[in-house]
Amino acid sequence: MELFLDSADIEEIRDLAKTGLVDGITTNPSLVAKSGGDFKTLLKEIAAVIKGPISAETVAPKAEGMIEEAKKLLPIAENIVIKVPLTWEGLKATRALSREGVKVNVTLCFSAAQALAAAKAGAFYVSPFIGRLDDVGASGSELLQEIRAIYDNYPDSIETRILAASIRSADHIAEAALAGADCATAPPKILRQIVHHPLTDKGLAAFLADWKKTGQSIL
Ligand code: E4P
Repeated sequence: MELFLDSADIEEIRDLAKTGLVDGITTNPSLVAKSGGDFKTLLKEIAAVIKGPISAETVAPKAEGMIEEAKKLLPIAENIVIKVPLTWEGLKATRALSREGVKVNVTLCFSAAQALAAAKAGAFYVSPFIGRLDDVGASGSELLQEIRAIYDNYPDSIETRILAASIRSADHIAEAALAGADCATAPPKILRQIVHHPLTDKGLAAFLADWKKTGQSIL
């Protein structure tokens, strides 16, 4: 499963890119607002460090506007993926852009039927928001499993990749992988958590303490 960073914080992106764990980036208008920077400049900065897909979200309400915005965003870097909302207008834009060979990430997906519609429109990625579903008492991982099963029923006609989004914990990343998601996008804080386990810390401390008792040096 590919791991993307869900962030518009260029310092975090630069730092985490060094781990080799970051296969791509997803941004959204809220993250851009939080970063306080200029969107297009930010995308250029991200593209300088990340060679994988970088999702850049459109904000126009109508398909024509989304397509117009996409045309401004695409020249910024060759790895820009256009992100559109899962609405009728978003699906029209997906259809038109995908026919031109543009990779489209259809975002704000909350149901299996919506994911089917995104695939039929030609989405390269569909982004089910599993954390926001869990927040309202539904099951994000069940949704991922449903979408996986539906897409796998039509291997000859559906190539859309499932991008688990709205990740709230390291367990969510494992759940996404278990459900067969192709990718998951997580905020920097969560990506940093995935390698942490209290028993790892405890075990390492004990090994190092015992090693000290030997009085030896490997060097
Ligand atoms: C996905 O592309 C979105 O940017 C993101 O995962 C939304 O997550 P949130 O629910 O934490 O805002």
